[in-house]
Amino acid sequence: MPDDPTLEHDGRGRELERCLCLLLRLLLLRSCLWLDVASKSAPVPSFMSIFKKAARSSRFDFSRSMVLLSEMDIREHSDVGTLMRAERSNGLPSFQEAPAFRNGVECPMTRSTISEPYAICDAASVHIAMTLDAAYLRGSIAAVYSVVKHATCPENIVFHFLLCERDKELKDLVTLTFPYLRFKVYYFVENLVKNRISLSVRQDLEQPLNYARNYLADILELCIHKVIYLDSDLVVVDDIAKLWEAKLGNSSLGAPEYCHANFTKYFTDAFWSNMTFANAFDGRKPCYFNTGVMVMDLLKWRQHNFTSKIESWMDVQKVTRIYELGSLPPFLLVFAGSVKAIEHRWNQHGLGGDNVLGSCRPLHPGPASLLHWSGKGKPWMRLDSGCPCPLDSLWAPYDLSIKGKHHKVDGNEASELHSHFRHWASSA
Ligand SMILES: *[C@@H]1O[C@H](CO)[C@@H](O)[C@H](O)[C@H]1NC(C)=O
Ligand SMILES: *[C@@H]1O[C@H](CO)[C@@H](O)[C@H](O)[C@H]1NC(C)=O
Ligand SMILES: *[C@@H]1O[C@H](CO)[C@@H](O)[C@H](O)[C@H]1NC(C)=O
Ligand SMILES: *[C@@H]1O[C@H](CO)[C@@H](O)[C@H](O)[C@H]1NC(C)=O
Repeated sequence: MPDDPTLEHDGRGRELERCLCLLLRLLLLRSCLWLDVASKSAPVPSFMSIFKKAARSSRFDFSRSMVLLSEMDIREHSDVGTLMRAERSNGLPSFQEAPAFRNGVECPMTRSTISEPYAICDAASVHIAMTLDAAYLRGSIAAVYSVVKHATCPENIVFHFLLCERDKELKDLVTLTFPYLRFKVYYFVENLVKNRISLSVRQDLEQPLNYARNYLADILELCIHKVIYLDSDLVVVDDIAKLWEAKLGNSSLGAPEYCHANFTKYFTDAFWSNMTFANAFDGRKPCYFNTGVMVMDLLKWRQHNFTSKIESWMDVQKVTRIYELGSLPPFLLVFAGSVKAIEHRWNQHGLGGDNVLGSCRPLHPGPASLLHWSGKGKPWMRLDSGCPCPLDSLWAPYDLSIKGKHHKVDGNEASELHSHFRHWASSA
């Protein structure tokens, strides 16, 4: 989820539009409260009681209730931490069941399609690793759905989900949502990294689970020699087998590279001014790459002990602040300049905007096989707020959450919502 500073602030106009949209909603809400509450000079009632009062009043109208509903969503989703708490206390979001996806006739047979449905170590399998947590759950579910939906051989895909043990109910949720999915769950021990994490510019980048990708070679079964790591804030719109087949040559890691990005700014002056550190890139021409989409050769990774190399850079960071972002810079330190460059279409990144504002951004020129909302803004939160960025509409079709359905409010759904609301208001 690290940000993509290769993009400039070219979405400012759109951002202004989004701000105006939010402001307009807030103004509508205020006038609504003023009508229903201020005129009755109520003593600062709670939000819910205002809502119920508005609903019972003779001046109640449906469009206003929609504004109120959306405003509640804005509050609920104003940051990842709040979202996490809300989901934990109210239970997880519910998802509709994804349809079954079947292999085309041209697909190679795997042991699992023949006799052993739970066989993981199979030469014909495509392995994908992702993390699962409450905060990004809607994103993860959409990502999985997008992968199987566009795959020619979806039954040959095996997902490897890393999650914290306290979130183990997510396993059942995945089973319910994807009854036909081949997957395996691994519990990530947060203490493995907890005391290696340093403060980042964005709090959600400090989550221990964000570092799980460093440990894939150790966590996944030894029979797995290669894996595609995918972030939870993306959708794949092409056959993932094409990425799987990318040749890594001598490299241990494949990812799209961005050599025009100013590499200097990923590290602090303290890093560049100390030759002990700066010499880390000797003999390499380092380029930025995004760690949200990577093809990893786990055999080579294990051989070269890359996990402990990454860890030693994280230990340096604890003593001398050599970078500002979370999990990305140690990857750059170990791999930049020796990654196998993969076509840019496999990571159209930065759609979440920058790390501070999360402003709207356009696609990079060229074809897209994978759309990545890296950066602060996440499409599910912006869609819920009622003021999404234009490209968030490309994510919406993969949203399987029941809640997400109200983004596509049509006549039927609107009247259904309306009658639910009536019922609720009258029983209040
Ligand atoms: C791969 O590494 C070997 C041995 O280090 C070297 O001879 C060969 O040229 C390398 N191949 C590529 C494509 O870099
Ligand atoms: C790259 O960034 C550094 C630090 O932000 C700056 O000093 C340097 O001039 C930049 N280089 C280029 C070529 O823009
Ligand atoms: C550079 O970093 C190393 C390792 O932390 C340290 O031992 C050394 O004193 C530093 N050198 C300077 C000039 O700060
Ligand atoms: C990898 O590094 C760790 C920690 O430095 C060390 O204990 C282990 O023996 C190393 N393994 C190999 C295969 O080099």
